[in-house]
Amino acid sequence: MDIGIVGAGRLGETLARLFVDAGHEVMLSNSRGAWSVEDQTDELGRHAHPGDVEEAVLSGEVVVLALPFRNRESLPSGDLFAGKIVVDATNPYTESGEVMDLPRPSSEYVARQFPGARVVKAFNTLDWETLRDAADPTGDDRPDDGRVADDRLAVFVAGDYPNANETVADLVEDVGFAPVETGTLAEGSTRQEPGGELYGRPMAAGDARKRIPAGRN
Ligand SMILES: NC(=O)c1ccc[n+]([C@@H]2O[C@H](COP(=O)([O-])OP(=O)(O)OC[C@H]3O[C@@H](n4cnc5c(N)ncnc54)[C@H](OP(=O)(O)O)[C@@H]3O)[C@@H](O)[C@H]2O)c1
Repeated sequence: MDIGIVGAGRLGETLARLFVDAGHEVMLSNSRGAWSVEDQTDELGRHAHPGDVEEAVLSGEVVVLALPFRNRESLPSGDLFAGKIVVDATNPYTESGEVMDLPRPSSEYVARQFPGARVVKAFNTLDWETLRDAADPTGDDRPDDGRVADDRLAVFVAGDYPNANETVADLVEDVGFAPVETGTLAEGSTRQEPGGELYGRPMAAGDARKRIPAGRN
């Protein structure tokens, strides 16, 4: 699958590596232009491509937001994102590292900014080092019910569009984690964002499923 990544820092580069290793085609970008991510994409190999933000968005069936939440308003207009699955991996921190005091779940702001896109909150609760080190793509030992083995770490997925959630859940499995659905975008984003019950708490999928009351998994 073609995946555009906006933000080439700790999270963006980590996800790029996981996706490339799983056989996907990635375009990595930041606010400064393609030239500035060339060293990173060279390092990632021939399935990683440098781009500017617009090119990365256009390139992807799935577009991952891996930039600071507070910078999202400088992104191109919502039209560019129409039809895309937008994975919101951001967390609402201020520049000085405090959690922003928002009246609504953070992903709702993203969904309003990109009304033609299907926004899925995912990959935001684990820190980049855990994502880098705990991925277990070889342990795809599915039980009879088709779910990924419960001892993989959970990556939480929330969204309002079942097909988009499913696509993102497949990506989570591809890169070596177990997708666990947390509800609608509003419900799940609240559980997944800083201050929520699932944020920053790595847990095996089996344990994670017991904590989600929605009965979605
Ligand atoms: N670090 C983690 O462990 C972790 C885990 C889960 C979620 N997250 C979330 O992921 C996001 C990124 O975190 P990070 O730790 O990877 O930050 P980071 O290391 O500071 O990287 C941020 C990246 O975003 C780019 N960026 C900034 N403004 C941009 C813009 N307007 N357009 C395009 N690219 C822009 C930056 O490049 P330029 O400034 O050069 O444009 C940089 O490549 C945050 O929302 C964070 O809360 C982080």
